[in-house]
Amino acid sequence: MDTTTVVLAGGQSSRFGEDKTRALLGGTPLLDRVLDALPGDSDIIVVGEARPTTRRVRWTREEPHFAGPLAALGAALPLIEGETFMLVGGDMPSAAPALPQLAELLQGTPVDAVVATDLNGHRQPLLAAYRTHAVRAAMPHSPIDLSMRVLLHDLDVTTVPIEEQFVTDIDTQEDLARMNSVYDGADARSAREADLVTYYDNEAADRRDNPLPEDRAARRDEFVEQLRAEGRGRLLEVGTGPGRDALAFQQAGLTVSGVDLAPASVELCRQAGLDVRVGSALELPFESGEFDAAYTASTLLHVADEDLDTALTELVRVVLPGAPIAIGLWGAPESRQERWGKQSYGPPRFFALRSDADLKAALVAHGAIERFDTWPSSEGDELHYQWVVLRTPDRA
Ligand SMILES: C[S@@+](CC[C@H](N)C(=O)[O-])C[C@H]1O[C@@H](n2cnc3c(N)ncnc32)[C@H](O)[C@@H]1O
Repeated sequence: MDTTTVVLAGGQSSRFGEDKTRALLGGTPLLDRVLDALPGDSDIIVVGEARPTTRRVRWTREEPHFAGPLAALGAALPLIEGETFMLVGGDMPSAAPALPQLAELLQGTPVDAVVATDLNGHRQPLLAAYRTHAVRAAMPHSPIDLSMRVLLHDLDVTTVPIEEQFVTDIDTQEDLARMNSVYDGADARSAREADLVTYYDNEAADRRDNPLPEDRAARRDEFVEQLRAEGRGRLLEVGTGPGRDALAFQQAGLTVSGVDLAPASVELCRQAGLDVRVGSALELPFESGEFDAAYTASTLLHVADEDLDTALTELVRVVLPGAPIAIGLWGAPESRQERWGKQSYGPPRFFALRSDADLKAALVAHGAIERFDTWPSSEGDELHYQWVVLRTPDRA
């Protein structure tokens, strides 16, 4: 199937007051939200002012600028190589999952376009799949300031009702505030986790190919020695990533199981012969007392402060009473929650960086702190790594 997607991101945003595709939704520019959600193999053409983006795209712009959506599509047409293409507005952050369905329908139907309709039956030409030659033939010689309806009028169109959530666009600052409330309100955890999955799915292979820092690998190997000395063989790793530590544990003779939020990381672990499944630290998919010990490195920093207690309770639940749990985290002089990451991997990741005192205060409710080491970041920033071995209460 052709997977060219044209994204219109060069409108005037007059109701919004500034370029809305640059506005931040959950800490990420709106345009990047749209791009991140497009099918992975899509050839993406963005019509608008060129800027750095998370996905690799081709840029074009209508002349004169701000000449409306039909002129914008007209500017993209010469760049489209496939027989069909998908079209989406750069202000429609939830639309992408609906696009492949529209494209598939177009493949199987002898029409020129498959266009989504909203709950009221209104056609949404910016959430649609089109046959390229038909659009070329129907494009007016001078599309400046013409509406997309002019194009649809000359095409043989099938419409498909689409759930409201996919059709939602952002026109005003109030629309944006409403959508941003998802990132601050009751759904904040799932929004954070969805962003982490996007980011780590894109990052997994690079992480696998990077060696672990020596300081951390040394602590991990000491933990292996401790487990040997205590005769503990069944280990759970939470937040395996692509499995660098888990492989070392397996090679050291331990029976390792793992869990990670990001399916691409889990797949890499499985390819390497590891027993890892998709799941969250906040709801571990294991029975109580299944493991002799647990290990989690650079993962609980993605769990918000309000959820840390749940994550620690889960870790303690799945190990035997009196078990050691090794925890590695990036910490800061003062606790803070923030988002950052490399733009090419996806939306910035949520981080909860904790001071040593705050981390210790959270841990003591779950066991005795047997070891607490820290060392500075090699990046020259003010972060430091925190390495903990927590001994869970002996309930026997
Ligand atoms: C910084 S990476 C560390 C990966 C690995 N431990 C390492 O050190 O290379 C964080 C990992 O935690 C995973 N993760 C984030 N939040 C999680 C959660 N709530 N439950 C399980 N895994 C999570 C991410 O998918 C990612 O693989």
